[in-house]
Amino acid sequence: KRPTLIGDRTMTLKAVPFFTQLNDRELDVIRTLAVEKAYPRTAVVLTEGEMGDSLYMIQTGKVKVFIGDEDGREIILKILGPGDFFGEMSMIDKQPRSASVTTLEASTFHILSHSAFERAVEQAPRIANMVMRVLASRVREADRK
Ligand code: CMP
Repeated sequence: KRPTLIGDRTMTLKAVPFFTQLNDRELDVIRTLAVEKAYPRTAVVLTEGEMGDSLYMIQTGKVKVFIGDEDGREIILKILGPGDFFGEMSMIDKQPRSASVTTLEASTFHILSHSAFERAVEQAPRIANMVMRVLASRVREADRK
């Protein structure tokens, strides 16, 4: 199923924990630059190894982040929900997706392309710090495994 675009950009971002650390001006920057998309349950959002350059912020719903082993079995890395984001790695370095992401529930995302992210950071530099903080915590967690 193809994702459908939901047009309402005024959807409140404050419901999302990730965004509670941002002030109203910073939220406005994201609201203006992000595209909102809705996916049904069990939809493929990202596929490991494919190119992509967008970061997905979860407004509602739940997703599964996983990689395939040599036998094609799924190894689940993380379950993410409202306030989390994913896809930041390829958005930043423009390399293939490091994992696959599918929805576990009907989900809505705010999607920022690389260029939209650059514009957002120009207008609100703290957004970059927040993404880097999450990236650092994911590296730490992965190192412990
Ligand atoms: P990206 O590589 O762009 O696409 C797949 C995404 O899965 C990746 O960005 C991260 O957002 C996420 N991801 C990959 N590995 C992990 C991990 N170990 N823990 C949490 N999220 C991950």
